[in-house]
Amino acid sequence: MDIIKVDAIDSTNAFLRELNRQKQFDGPVCVMAKEQLAGKGQMGTVWQSEPGKNLTCSVFMQVKGIELVEQFFISIAVSLAVCDALNDLLITKLSIKWPNDILSDRKKICGILIENVVKNGSLNGAIIGIGINVNQLEFDNLPQAGSLKKILGKDLEIEEVLDVLLTKLEQRFTQLTTSSFAMLKKEYERLLFRRNKPSTFLDAEGNSFVGIIQSVNNEGKLQVLLEDEIVTPFDLKEISLLY
Ligand code: BTN
Repeated sequence: MDIIKVDAIDSTNAFLRELNRQKQFDGPVCVMAKEQLAGKGQMGTVWQSEPGKNLTCSVFMQVKGIELVEQFFISIAVSLAVCDALNDLLITKLSIKWPNDILSDRKKICGILIENVVKNGSLNGAIIGIGINVNQLEFDNLPQAGSLKKILGKDLEIEEVLDVLLTKLEQRFTQLTTSSFAMLKKEYERLLFRRNKPSTFLDAEGNSFVGIIQSVNNEGKLQVLLEDEIVTPFDLKEISLLY
């Protein structure tokens, strides 16, 4: 895979998107930055990362044969690839907080931001932004954040983490064909944080309610069993799970 390493950049996702606009990629491309000046998180948030301490990278992957309505399977494949990589790095108690936060023992150690590349109305690729907290120890105002160093008690080479991650990402992407969808979804659901446990959620108005995560549907909506015994699908804007 082509890897571009830069010192400082606004956002690796934005950089890769611009690069892909200028010249169409014919294979996977990765860009990693020591520092992001405007790192992007999910739902318009900012991704904070101490310069030089963590892995902040984006990977362009070509996507063939996946319909736009099936795009959540990309998120599934990426989440599983990150878990595979972290598992290889001896991180235990891994889970996926829907849709794609990666936790170890309830602490968020990785965030994922996927942006689709659509050409002529169909899905042509994905820009997969991944932030893994590697050697950072202090997280201001982020009580749920963890890092590999906090778990393992030692520094890791960021490039080693990148290496394992890219290998796993390519492996999971080869499984991303319709015939493997059910298997990928099963693996993803097995790792879902708080699955089958009564949990407290907030709705879009900030009201709390209790429900039990059952699964995800093929559109990527979270299927929650509510008190009235009805399983209801929620999308990201409609629900947030309290830790
Ligand atoms: C989240 O959990 O909110 C998603 C965070 C994604 C952060 C990564 S860091 C590398 C890539 N570039 C960005 O600007 N964001 C993603």
